[in-house]
Amino acid sequence: MESTIEEIRRTVGEEKVLCGVSGGVDSAVLAKLIHKAVGSQLRCVFVDHGLLRKNEPDYISGRLAQSLGFEVEVHDFSETFLSKLDGIVDPEEKRRIIGEQFIRSFESAVQSGADFRFLGQGTLYPDIIESGGVRGTADVIKSHHNVGGLPDDMEFELLEPLRELFKDEVRKVGKELGLPEDVLGRHPFPGPGLGVRIIGEITKERVKILQEADHIFIDALRKHGIYDKIWQAFAVLVPVKTVGVMGDERTYANLIALRAVTSVDGMTADWYRLPENVLSEVSNKIVNLVTGVNRVVYDVSSKPPSTIEWE
Ligand code: XMP
Repeated sequence: MESTIEEIRRTVGEEKVLCGVSGGVDSAVLAKLIHKAVGSQLRCVFVDHGLLRKNEPDYISGRLAQSLGFEVEVHDFSETFLSKLDGIVDPEEKRRIIGEQFIRSFESAVQSGADFRFLGQGTLYPDIIESGGVRGTADVIKSHHNVGGLPDDMEFELLEPLRELFKDEVRKVGKELGLPEDVLGRHPFPGPGLGVRIIGEITKERVKILQEADHIFIDALRKHGIYDKIWQAFAVLVPVKTVGVMGDERTYANLIALRAVTSVDGMTADWYRLPENVLSEVSNKIVNLVTGVNRVVYDVSSKPPSTIEWE
């Protein structure tokens, strides 16, 4: 780790670094690492693209900032992202739009005239492989938000000190840097966020439905003590309406899919055998508490041939 810190110092020199903090493990470790190397030359910005889990902005400005020990600015761009995504259903198009707007939003967040030469990014080794970036030998499976989605006329140089690491190695670095377990133990969350978990059109209402369902699921996993056994768990909003019955009324409402997988590095994954009682509890809660949902299914596919995310 010392050599990485030295390398960051050498690369950055006297310049300033802007770092996107997302709430995830990678960007938290990245920010802490860069801060260790260049201290107050680093400015951390959280771009709220509105496609985050429930209560995420509060976590960023509260628990995360406190654990990092320095300020994280919160900038709400959710309306901009939503309007750019209006009517877009193609997954790659969504990723491109979110990736590009992400950079634009950073630029706008630092308009204060400060001159930032570098942009810190928490790109990991699997991101590069899966975006076809290793000597062009891999097919493009999904263009990752933090690699393929970058616009050509970007005004920053990228600083990606984690690009040779796998997730478990990033967590080890984070531990060495003194970050607490609850920050390091969080499940991975994709850059495009709920944008790739809302299949089909992204609207404010659909974001809300997914946030509520996802929150119930994750809460239950924590309550039953299985959150840490799972690599990643989340809900997906499927653009299918199905018939149900509520009291005496026929309903015609949304379908939520639950996904939980085990994995070592995200490159391959197996679906998690969730206990029946947990599945049942989560399904009941979602159907009863989330307006607009009347059916819940569990995803039993592994990677490959599926991917972890649905888009
Ligand atoms: P897939 O769906 O490709 O996901 O099996 C593998 C891991 O990568 C995460 N993921 C992303 N992370 N930007 C990210 O930072 C992205 O665009 C992105 N797409 C997928 C995914 O959540 C899983 O952990």
